[in-house]
Amino acid sequence: MNENTLTITDNRTGRTYDIPIEYDTINAMDLRQIKVNDDDFGMMSYDPGFKNTASTKSTITYIDGAKGILRYRGYPIEQLALQSNYLETAYLILNGELPTKEEYAEWEHNVTYHTFLHENVKSLIEAFRYDAHPMSMFISTVAALPTFYPESRNISDPQVRLIQIFRLIAKVPTIAAFSYRHLRGLPYEYPDNDLSYTGNFLKMLDCMSQSKYQPNPVLERALDILFILHADHEQNCGTATMRVIGSSHSDPYSAMAGAAAALYGPLHGGANEAVLRMLTEIGDVKNVPSFMEGVKNRERLLMGFGHRVYKNYDPRAKIIKEVADQVFEVTGANPMLEVALELERIALEDDFFISRNLYPNVDFYSGIIYQAMGFPVAMFPVLFAIPRTIGWLSQWTELLNDGSQKIARPRQIYLGEGERDYVSMEDRE
Ligand code: SDX
Repeated sequence: MNENTLTITDNRTGRTYDIPIEYDTINAMDLRQIKVNDDDFGMMSYDPGFKNTASTKSTITYIDGAKGILRYRGYPIEQLALQSNYLETAYLILNGELPTKEEYAEWEHNVTYHTFLHENVKSLIEAFRYDAHPMSMFISTVAALPTFYPESRNISDPQVRLIQIFRLIAKVPTIAAFSYRHLRGLPYEYPDNDLSYTGNFLKMLDCMSQSKYQPNPVLERALDILFILHADHEQNCGTATMRVIGSSHSDPYSAMAGAAAALYGPLHGGANEAVLRMLTEIGDVKNVPSFMEGVKNRERLLMGFGHRVYKNYDPRAKIIKEVADQVFEVTGANPMLEVALELERIALEDDFFISRNLYPNVDFYSGIIYQAMGFPVAMFPVLFAIPRTIGWLSQWTELLNDGSQKIARPRQIYLGEGERDYVSMEDRE
């Protein structure tokens, strides 16, 4: 008997099946041979929310949810946050290795070269109301980009793919900054390609009449670390969406607009915005106990807590808490931090949260930093989407290079009506 198999006995027929095991996983298609009658469709697995279903093999990001481990291409997130920068980490995530000095210089040039937007994009952004949500503006603008780059539909050409990847990494900060400036009624600030990736972003957000804007180095570095932490996270909801849309061979802009739309949800990347709205609603530490009673009575969720994979502290949340201290030295402490720390203190002691493995995730403290830096709360999901762009595009590239992948098309368990004949309107009750 091959020990790398699962022997299944179908008690309806008494038949047994030896299902091969690979990577501690069985191939769902191997279940289809399990039938009662020969003309049956065969056995399927049912997994709403894909809680226990692997959709791909990947070499990009490794997470150990029980141990709170996160690595990009094998490098621990703690080391990358301390020693790398976002553009270098983006190169690593896409290419699988840290760049040499020459490779990094070429990569940085290629990204910097594409930071400008076609002037017509400004008219698209202008069309939004003054109070439009910037994440909707971001999604819409990304979805419009293939109209400027129709060649991007040729997804089978690696060189065509790479140019779109340069464009998207380079342009998402510009889209975000232009959206912000539109909401503030301010003139657009164009990219300054002499500045770093995050320095240029801060310039496009904040520069007014300065002839040569210089970003605050502490804030520039803090944002760079936050971007590293948000760059990729294996098969999360947004990335799974990128892969599903990519599997039909859509262009990368259209696929990424869908991924960003998934990220926007408050259960996913939109949680950072929801956390700040929750903290603001609580308002003061004295209101925390009654709020937590409401959570335990299932009246609401504790936003920024819990995770499908991490059943321990999200390693990113630990680093973000450290970054917060550095930012507050420049900006002054955010009073919401006190409320957040009290929520965490109670959650880490209360069995309702402990028994459900509810710990702070990446979204719990990031918003407090963004708010202290002056970002409006509505910008927070956009600040998640900018760095996640490289994760989406790297996973999309891996999908297209994986010969075992096909168009995503899940099955269902049909529980609806059996066949029945049409009834004319006058004969209906
Ligand atoms: C991100 O997947 C990724 O990697 C995502 C992400 C990334 O980098 O891409 O890490 C980014 O999306 C982080 C998560 C941000 N979302 C939030 O902070 C929203 C609040 N969290 C929850 O909505 C929830 O924890 C999820 C969505 C994150 C995870 O949900 P699961 O895995 O489906 O877990 P579940 O809903 O089945 O919850 C298990 C139990 C339930 O209680 P019981 O019915 O078993 O009694 O825990 C409870 C839930 O009610 N629960 C919560 C809770 N999260 C789960 N109760 C109160 N507050 C919460 N936040």
